[in-house]
Amino acid sequence: MANAKDVIIACDFATPEAALEFLDKFKDEKPFVKIGMELYYAGGNEIVRKLRERGHRIFLDLKLHDIPNTVRKAMKVLASHDIDMVNVHASGTREMMAAALEGLTEGSAPGRRPLLIAVTQLTSTSEQALHEQLLIGPSINDTIVAYAANAKAAGLDGVVCSPLESEIVKEACGNDFCTVTPGIRYPDAAKDDQSRITSPADARRLGSDYIVVGRPITAAADPVEAYRRCKRDFCGE
Ligand code: C5P
Repeated sequence: MANAKDVIIACDFATPEAALEFLDKFKDEKPFVKIGMELYYAGGNEIVRKLRERGHRIFLDLKLHDIPNTVRKAMKVLASHDIDMVNVHASGTREMMAAALEGLTEGSAPGRRPLLIAVTQLTSTSEQALHEQLLIGPSINDTIVAYAANAKAAGLDGVVCSPLESEIVKEACGNDFCTVTPGIRYPDAAKDDQSRITSPADARRLGSDYIVVGRPITAAADPVEAYRRCKRDFCGE
């Protein structure tokens, strides 16, 4: 399942109607989509079901983080929605990640377990905040590699990270350990609030398995063409 190389569209819409209207533009393809907290809290399981029925693969980006027993039970429920990828915070510990995997496996049909991915450190966390607020001494990169190694030890399939971190994660955890990477921008386009950005072609070169692309596609004048450009440059299609 690793090294699948696909573009995941971040469907960061406030309502299910807006998400469906956006996806109606895609007539010839069924993009892999990411449902984050905003859309999930607005549209609940109904929007997951609808997108599934329409044939989309789904990354449910809810970033679970709680005691292992609670996460295990929650993952079992999420697995019943027939999604393709889901995630937890690695800072919940190896025990929590292992419990998440157990719940996800229990709740999935045989051979249908969604990929389980860990968030290492949010890209919004600065080196300064890491040291001064979270009281973590090592550098961001060392923390990311250590958290990724914990995720791998717990049996997870990969991590969410910047494409710039893919290389160090793969070095530590092996090439089959998936990297799912947001922060994608073309050099000729707006950066929005992303600071460490990478083009789809560079993300491919750096070893990302999946790129997560939001506004460069959702806010484009021609979203279908923007998606196809990402696919060409990242997947070589
Ligand atoms: O619009 P944009 O391409 O910046 O969207 C990126 C998506 O990836 C958003 O849904 C954002 O929440 C998510 N994300 C991110 N950085 C992370 C983790 C998730 O940008 N470290």
